Amino acid sequence: MRKKVTILTLQEKMAAGEQITMITGYDYPMALMQEKAGMDIILVGDSLGMTVLGFDSTLPVGMDTMIDHAKAVRRGAPTAYVIGDMPYMSYQISIEQAIKNAGRFMQEAGCDAIKLEGGSNVVDIVEALTKATIPVMGHIGLTPQSIAMLGGFKSQGRSLEAAEKLIDDAKALEEAGIVTLLIEAVPPEVGRIITEQANVPVIGIGAGPHCHGQLLISHDMLGCFEAFTPKFVKKYTDLGNAMREAFEAYINEVKEGKFPAEEHYYKMHPGEAEELLKKYGITD
Ligand code: KIV
Repeated sequence: MRKKVTILTLQEKMAAGEQITMITGYDYPMALMQEKAGMDIILVGDSLGMTVLGFDSTLPVGMDTMIDHAKAVRRGAPTAYVIGDMPYMSYQISIEQAIKNAGRFMQEAGCDAIKLEGGSNVVDIVEALTKATIPVMGHIGLTPQSIAMLGGFKSQGRSLEAAEKLIDDAKALEEAGIVTLLIEAVPPEVGRIITEQANVPVIGIGAGPHCHGQLLISHDMLGCFEAFTPKFVKKYTDLGNAMREAFEAYINEVKEGKFPAEEHYYKMHPGEAEELLKKYGITD
């Protein structure tokens, strides 16, 4: 088994110019494969509300759901750096509630850090969590929990003014104590400036090639999320169609009597099958 990925591993990769790999993971079997593949970071994202639970946003996802999924991911990926994503309204109401909920990711699910969305508006929360020894990943740019404010899933930081605001937010978060930063759906120039100014590992999802690492949503890159495909997604396989084809083949074989076949049968003790059938009058 590889050595546990820690914040020191991520800092070392950043210093060595080695790209950090990050993916979302939501359940045990997927985490198992992500761990075997050698993924550095697994984000148990509240995107699971859309990719796994079928909601049209991340807003309905609650803490208990997140904890269950984070526990499953940790069981599948014991050495990856696992980050629990604070769901909508789990950290906005009060600092106490933020610490309590973030603490659950660390204590109950065995996460290495938590992630929360926002810039200068969340620095007091980041400071409080940091003081409480809970490592925080910041998340700026397109922040899906704010879609009602942003007017939908839209790229960010495309004007000079908006770009400067993101650069300032990144600095404010770093001063507040974040250990890593995620930037989503911004032009590569913005990703580059934030990364070059940062002293913590910066991961991009749709933020260009200059970040210290890259993140994709697992269901996007596996080809099994159909609702929409952001510009930054690369599909590495077509699991959605592969699943549909397998289900169709199964339906057809059951209907045609081809499944189950002899190799799927359990055998009775030698000679006893005939005796049993005869006793019940079955002779063919
Ligand atoms: O929930 C999630 O997976 C995320 C990504 C969209 C970055 O926050």
